[in-house]
Amino acid sequence: MSLILGIETSCDECSASVVRYQVDSIEVLSCETFSQILIHRPYGGVVPEIASRNHLETINPMITAALASAEISPRELDAIAVTNRPGLVGALLVGVSAAKSMAYALEKPLVPVHHLEGHATSIFLNSSDRPPVRRNEIPYPMLIAVVSGGHTNLHLAPAAPELWPLDFLKRSLVGRSRDDAAGEAFDKTAKVLGFPYPGGRWIDETAQSGNPRAFDFPRALPQKATLDFSFSGLKTAVAMKAEELRKKGELESRLPDLCASLQEAIVDALFTKIALAVRDNRCKSLAIVGGVAANSRLRNRLDTEWKSLGLLQPPILPEMKYCTDNAAMIAGAGAFRFRQSHALRGLDYLTLNAFASPEF
Ligand code: KG4
Ligand code: ZN
Repeated sequence: MSLILGIETSCDECSASVVRYQVDSIEVLSCETFSQILIHRPYGGVVPEIASRNHLETINPMITAALASAEISPRELDAIAVTNRPGLVGALLVGVSAAKSMAYALEKPLVPVHHLEGHATSIFLNSSDRPPVRRNEIPYPMLIAVVSGGHTNLHLAPAAPELWPLDFLKRSLVGRSRDDAAGEAFDKTAKVLGFPYPGGRWIDETAQSGNPRAFDFPRALPQKATLDFSFSGLKTAVAMKAEELRKKGELESRLPDLCASLQEAIVDALFTKIALAVRDNRCKSLAIVGGVAANSRLRNRLDTEWKSLGLLQPPILPEMKYCTDNAAMIAGAGAFRFRQSHALRGLDYLTLNAFASPEF
């Protein structure tokens, strides 16, 4: 058993969490998150300078609240985990500095965590809301699709995270987006249609009453020879269709059809490549993680079509609250690395830095 504090400040969520690592579960004891979405909304996207300044104001209250609601004193922690890449460097540095100072003052090991490894292990988090996903009972290999605002990657996991090498993300990558991420495609098209930032949730909601076959938007890279994605053409196609409808005075009334059709194009592209990757690599299980895993159409298609993919069990998705950025997934991923003894101790803390790039 280990108690890990996680800290996440890579973009516009300031989050701290305490998890209890056990052999068959990662129990989330607390997860306190301050979302800056409303602060950035007037600018139509995240403003890096505003993000880091806000993290500075909220990081200490989040850490204090996470420890208090977990009823854990800082001395009881076994390690402190923090996201140090990828993300906005100024924002990351706030979390990294807070984690370094705490680890130094408390003489605790410090575990740097790759944000995408946090998403990838988010399926193993369990709170009281659902039974734990037992990682040793999952049939491997498992395909992990990371579909977030910044990334669309397909990773092949040969075993449970305790056995992942340090360069797991690099070694396991079998497909990725060549341009925009799936979440970015949602956000950019939503902006064109006048929805507030971040737009994925609004498109999802508006699409509920629309016809997904009303408009035929492009599905890029349909060739079976590649597991890569491309979403950058979608924004232009949606913008042109929206302009055409606006001129006819039909934009407002066709908005649900437009949202349903563009959502279908994104989900279809994701589904097609995921299915191909599962078959090519003879995967027995599938996990979908990241903000876009919250999408209802994607969840729906997985529910109804997973058997046709040849999987031995239904796809595993994180609980809704652990799809978007949160510190519980960082604490969880940190726990796996801590158990492998990949932690910085003593003066080694001073070497830890923050990096914008994912470095695959
Ligand atoms: O994982 P995340 O919180 O941040 C990154 O690490 O990038 O993902 C945020 C992304 C945004 O692009 C947001 O629009 C998208 O997840 N998102 C959704 C939904 N909820 C969040 N996209 C589609 N449907 C949703 N329901
Ligand atoms: Zn994320």
